[in-house]
Amino acid sequence: MELHPDLVRTLITEDELKERISELGEEIARDYRGKNPLLIGILKGAVYFMTDLSRALPIPLTMDFMAVSSYGAAHKSSGVVRILKDLDTPLTGRHVLVVEDVLDTGLTLKYLVRSFEARGAASVEIATCLVKEGAQAEPVDVRYVGFTIPNEFVVGYGLDYAERYRNLPYVGVLKPSCYTD
Ligand code: PRP
Repeated sequence: MELHPDLVRTLITEDELKERISELGEEIARDYRGKNPLLIGILKGAVYFMTDLSRALPIPLTMDFMAVSSYGAAHKSSGVVRILKDLDTPLTGRHVLVVEDVLDTGLTLKYLVRSFEARGAASVEIATCLVKEGAQAEPVDVRYVGFTIPNEFVVGYGLDYAERYRNLPYVGVLKPSCYTD
């Protein structure tokens, strides 16, 4: 696919995403066979990774979604996690796999893991498509990582800038002239 004019370069292609997600699917299926995991997708960024990863998992599972926000429209993490939509599913005794698009500062996932454990989950693990290298405020224990990427402003495959670019089927680096803060 041709590079979007607002991007500096492609970081991860569609084919690379597909191949890595299929590997992750095999690994997660092995680990969760017989456990009926509950995949929790964190809206909105994780929708693409959630739909692709869940279809790469040949095991019984259920899904739920939660919407939180730590960024607002700005491109830097604020450190404030707001719950915009909560889960429909009780977590007592469930094996939870949190599905995220990107681990940046890690504040969102730290908050979510603590919250899911407090709701009685039997286990809580994280699958994130991307990890930004060196961006975490403190170490975060992530079981499944798609790709480790440089700490740049990336969009596509669910990641936005001011709600744009989520639907690009690849991950790319946004031109600095395209963001204003
Ligand atoms: C992004 C992303 C993660 C979070 C990661 O969400 O989807 O949830 O930020 O950042 P952190 O590691 O610094 O906490 P955002 O709040 O932008 O919402 P969105 O998914 O709707 O774009």
